[in-house]
This record gives sequence, C-alpha cells and structure tokens, in this order.
Amino acid sequence: MADRERWASRIGVILAMAGNAVGLGNFLRFPVQAAQNGGGAFMIPYFVALVLFGIPLAWCEWAMGRMGGAYRHGSAPGVFALLWKHPMAKYLGALGVCLPLGVLTYYLYVESWSLAYSMFAMMWDLFGVRSMDSLRAFLTAYQGGGTRIGVSLIAWVFFLITIGINYWVMTGGIARGIERLARVGMPLLFVLAFVLTVRVFTLSPPAGAGPDQTVREGLGFVWNPDLGMLRSGKVWLAAAGQVFFTLSVGFGAIQCYASYMRRRDDIIVTGLSASMMNEFVEVILGASIAIPAAVVFFGRAGTVDIARSGAFNLGFVAMPAIFQQMPVGALFGLMWFFLLFIAGVTSSVALAQPAVAFLEDELGWTHRRAVRAVWVALLVLGHVPILGFSAGALDEVDFWAGTIGLALFALIEAVVFLWVFGAERAWAEIHVGAEVRLPRALLYVLKYVTPTLLAVILAAWLWQDGWAYLTMRGVPAEQRVWRWVARVMLLGMLAITVALIRRAVRRPGAAVPEATS
Ligand code: TRP
Repeated sequence: MADRERWASRIGVILAMAGNAVGLGNFLRFPVQAAQNGGGAFMIPYFVALVLFGIPLAWCEWAMGRMGGAYRHGSAPGVFALLWKHPMAKYLGALGVCLPLGVLTYYLYVESWSLAYSMFAMMWDLFGVRSMDSLRAFLTAYQGGGTRIGVSLIAWVFFLITIGINYWVMTGGIARGIERLARVGMPLLFVLAFVLTVRVFTLSPPAGAGPDQTVREGLGFVWNPDLGMLRSGKVWLAAAGQVFFTLSVGFGAIQCYASYMRRRDDIIVTGLSASMMNEFVEVILGASIAIPAAVVFFGRAGTVDIARSGAFNLGFVAMPAIFQQMPVGALFGLMWFFLLFIAGVTSSVALAQPAVAFLEDELGWTHRRAVRAVWVALLVLGHVPILGFSAGALDEVDFWAGTIGLALFALIEAVVFLWVFGAERAWAEIHVGAEVRLPRALLYVLKYVTPTLLAVILAAWLWQDGWAYLTMRGVPAEQRVWRWVARVMLLGMLAITVALIRRAVRRPGAAVPEATS
C-alpha cells in the first residue's frame, strides 16, 4: 500500500491548523457574540471556557487524530473503531463526517459573499452606494431578496467560483494543496488584519459624533468587564459555544488534519501554538477591527443595535459603510473582505477534509474520486441554504450542525476517548512524542468536568427549548417548508454516511487493526 500522505513540515501543520481554526467566526461571529453578551463580561467566561475546555479538548482531538493516522484512519468512524472495539463505534463516528459537511453547506455561501464583496468594495462609488441604508439594500438584493427563486445571479456565480477554488486546492491533497494554501494565506491574513487594526486605531469620528465615539471607548466595550453579567447562564453558554466554534473543536476536523502527522510528532506544543494563533487573531485582531470601528461611527448603542439586527450586518453593512467614508476606503474595503475570504477558504477545506478522508481511508477511493464526489455533493446541497435563505434555512442548518450537533459530538468524543478508551491511555496517547508534560490536574478536568458540562448544556437546552425548537413553535408558516428541507437534508446526509459505513465494514480487508499504544 502506498504511504499515507503527510504534512511536509511542522510550521506547515501549525499554519494549516491555524487556518482551520481562524475563520469567518473570528471576524464576524466573535465580535457579534461579544457585543450581544455584554462586551467585557463575555471575556471572562470566554477565557475560562478556553482554558478549561477548548484547548484541552483540542489536544484530545489532536491525539485521537494522530493515533488514527498511524492506522490509516483519518475520519471519526475509523478513529472511533480504534478507540472502542464495538460494532457501534463506527456509526457514532458518522457525525464527525456529517457535521463539518453540514456546516460547509452554508459556510461556503458566506465565504462566497466575501469574495464577491472584495470586488464590490472597489466599485461602490460607481454605483453611488454610500450610506448604511443603501448598503443594507445592496446586501438584501445580493442575497436574492425580491427575486422569485431566492438568489441573485451574481451571488450564484460567486458561489460556483468559490466551490471551484476549494475544489482546486483540495485536488492538490494535504501537503501540496492545503499546506501550501496555509503557507501563503496565513501570513497574508496576518498582514491584512494588522493593517486594518492600525487603520481602525487611527480613525477619527465622523462630524457631529458624540464624545463617547472613540476607539478607546470601543476597546473599553470589549475589555471592561461588567461583572453583573456573569450571573447570566446564557452568557456562559454563548462563550463556551464561541470557544468551540472558533477552535474548530467538536467537528472531527482537527482530528482529521492531525491524522496526517507522524506518530511521534509532538502535539502538545504544536497544538497549543495553533490554538494560540487562533486566539491572537480572534481576541486581539478580531476584537480590534469591527467593534471599535463601529463604536467610532455609530456609538455604543448603535453598535449593539447593528449586532442584534442580524449576524452579517456588522461585517457586510456597517464595515463597508465605514470604509465608504474614509479616504482610499475602497482599498480598505477590499482588504477587509479579502481577509474574510482567506479566513474562510482555509477553514472550508478543513471542513471538507473529513469526508474526503472517510472515502479514501474507509472505502479505498482514490483522492481524485473522493474530492470530486465531496464537492459535487456540496455543489448540490449548498443550494438548500441558498434558496431557502430568506426562510431561515441557513440558520436552521447552523443551529443543528453548528450548535447542537457540535456540543453532542464534543460530548461523544470526550466520552469515547476518556471513558471508553480510558483516561490513563488517553493521557499516555496525548504525551507520545511530547516536548513538555501537561499538569495532571487537566486529566481530571477532561475526564469529569468537560463531559459533565457538555451534558448539562445539552440537557438544559432540551429541557428549556428542545421541544419548542423541534416543533418550530413561533416560526412563521411560510418559513417552515425550507426549514424542514434543511432538516431533511441533514438527516439524509447522516443516512448516506451510515450506509457507506456499512459498506466499509463489509469491504474485504476492512478489519480494524489492533490499537497498541
Ligand atoms: N473555526 C472556524 C471559524 O472560526 C469555523 C469552524 C467551526 C470550522 N468548525 C470547524 C472550520 C471545523 C473548519 C473545521 O470560522
């Protein structure tokens, strides 16, 4: 058998993993979450969740992935079968293929907006688009509001281009596709984010601005803790959710990238470097661009209103409105949206890789065939969030795959690794090839606190909102059809994955080799 593909260098793994984690979430989701959940108050539960759950669980995923790779298994079905000698194990892993793919069906669409907007940023003057209102109208028209089919031609074309770019990168494989993209993309992303931060720090308020419309005030909004908010369970939940989302933990995506490492490569320092790179981009750069800029232009209350009015309004309406009022704003607009695009593309290839690895490792498909199958499927499925956009299909997929599914899969991973495989073996596995040792207290946190917290989050949700959510209480009648289509799509993806796993089990020579660690 030919050798399994490997990352070409250590810095390559770190950049690829950082590219995996640094995504639209860092620049769009984080600032909105922070603004909606009390600004500075949000940062305390955020850091607690980061240190207690986010980074430790990321190490677990790195360890599971590197171990799986040693036995030629890169996706969750294969890895779980190694960790747990039970016929059910493979099927539990199905979520680790479907969740990232489910997220990808809408992630690609938003990624394609940022590519389109990089171009529009240079043309708004020609169209006479300047004010917040005209930018809002522009976004609605771009997203196909007012058209009968629900997508504008230009948005559809950019969706296709985005799929094409992702496909092209992935045909190159791990080292020559994904790693190369990260080696070029990540440094460029840092430069762009840094330049934009400097520009925001030197912004002057618009004429007639109030005394509180300063960068200082904007930074204070993110960083001054309002301790009263710490009593709100919702804030803690939002913070934990953001930490998982931003680190890409709980999807099986880190696991999959780690499977292309060598058995004795260190993961503790390497994993920490990638996670810290993500945190630098999120907390320092992500928090220093959109929020302070919005506070300078629209004040504190205005910024909260924008964040509450819709997930994309801060990035796609308020930011271009600000750039439109600056000298050489077109250039800064281009930088902002291209930054989003790079952040997006280095994450979307990571979301697709588990499915590709699954087809290659478990079904023996060639790389070409696996990549083609996955991207053709995405080309078709991506139309659900697109055509159902105004009916909330995108939110529906995000909720089930990106929120509930993530918490559920993170819980499954923690239980399978730390309880079924066993805490001591898991600890030893994490430390294979380690350059430093982790404090043992972390093992107890991982074993007891992490699964308990995840179970509590899930149970609390089921108890409080589960039934209302399932039955779509309060959802307007005209939205239900598309939201059901979105659910059926996700269930269909799961069913197909399960069927493929059955096929893999029956494949000649599919017996799982004994794990010896
Ligand atoms: N972390 C990415 C972001 O911040 C999004 C994401 C979540 C992701 N889960 C993932 C990316 C899994 C790749 C793989 O935008």
